[in-house]
Amino acid sequence: MQPRTDNAPLQQLDQWDDFVATRYRQGKSEEDFRNYKADANPTVTEFYRQNHAFQTLDFVLSKKAEYCSLRRDRQSIWEMAEYLNTLVDDSDPDTDLTQIEHLLQTAEAIRKDGHARWFILAGFVHDLGKVLCLYGEPQWAVVGDTFPVGCGYSDQIVFPEFFAANPDSKIPQYRTEYGIYEPNCGLDKVHLSFGHDEYIYQATRRYLPEEAQYMLRYHSFYAAHRHGAYRHLMNAQDERMFEWVRKFNQYDLYSKGRERPKTQEILPYYQDLVSEFFPDRIAW
Ligand SMILES: [Fe+2]
Ligand SMILES: [Fe+2]
Repeated sequence: MQPRTDNAPLQQLDQWDDFVATRYRQGKSEEDFRNYKADANPTVTEFYRQNHAFQTLDFVLSKKAEYCSLRRDRQSIWEMAEYLNTLVDDSDPDTDLTQIEHLLQTAEAIRKDGHARWFILAGFVHDLGKVLCLYGEPQWAVVGDTFPVGCGYSDQIVFPEFFAANPDSKIPQYRTEYGIYEPNCGLDKVHLSFGHDEYIYQATRRYLPEEAQYMLRYHSFYAAHRHGAYRHLMNAQDERMFEWVRKFNQYDLYSKGRERPKTQEILPYYQDLVSEFFPDRIAW
């Protein structure tokens, strides 16, 4: 095991995903959800401490300017998936899934339930934004529950006490319920903490239906899609589309325990599916 740097408390990015899946384990009561700290080990807790302290509005705006103009690269979906697979960490190759396997497993669970092709495709690409880690971004800027910046923090976000260390919490304008936003302005106008959701949304939005765009962009926004927070910033379209975000979340959270996908067998299906929606190369 390599020694962890200060910016990388998680042994693997998936430790965050695993924590979320445990937090929302099927059959848990609302009461149990509030006891999430029991499921968080010290590395996960340290990860959230950093995430909540460093995700300021300024930081989000600078990362959006850096990555969301998509001027970094032109790569196919497959090249990006292969690239993401090079994210090797301390996971156990015998039991832990590779990044591509997680994507295929999510997509296969959606396919087995007979959903539309775009929905299956959303499952296949939803975590490709984690390549941010390979670009050198710290874990706290790649994964983690997302939350609005520039307005008051909801106590429905995990570890809300860690926001005290965020410089934004000293700025009175950012501490009010609406902050820099208008009532029900719509989430498209709201800046969420930066991470893999926003990046994959921006890279793929031109090619996917709106439902899929919402699934990708908000899949880590648990305070909203799981706990109903921030409705005062959402508009009617957000409300409608969050039905799809919630539908998607079931597969993101609960497909992991299933059998390892038979990658070679199912690959032709996914090659067809990707080419149906995406050109050979897209901007990243
Ligand atoms: Fe994700
Ligand atoms: Fe995921």
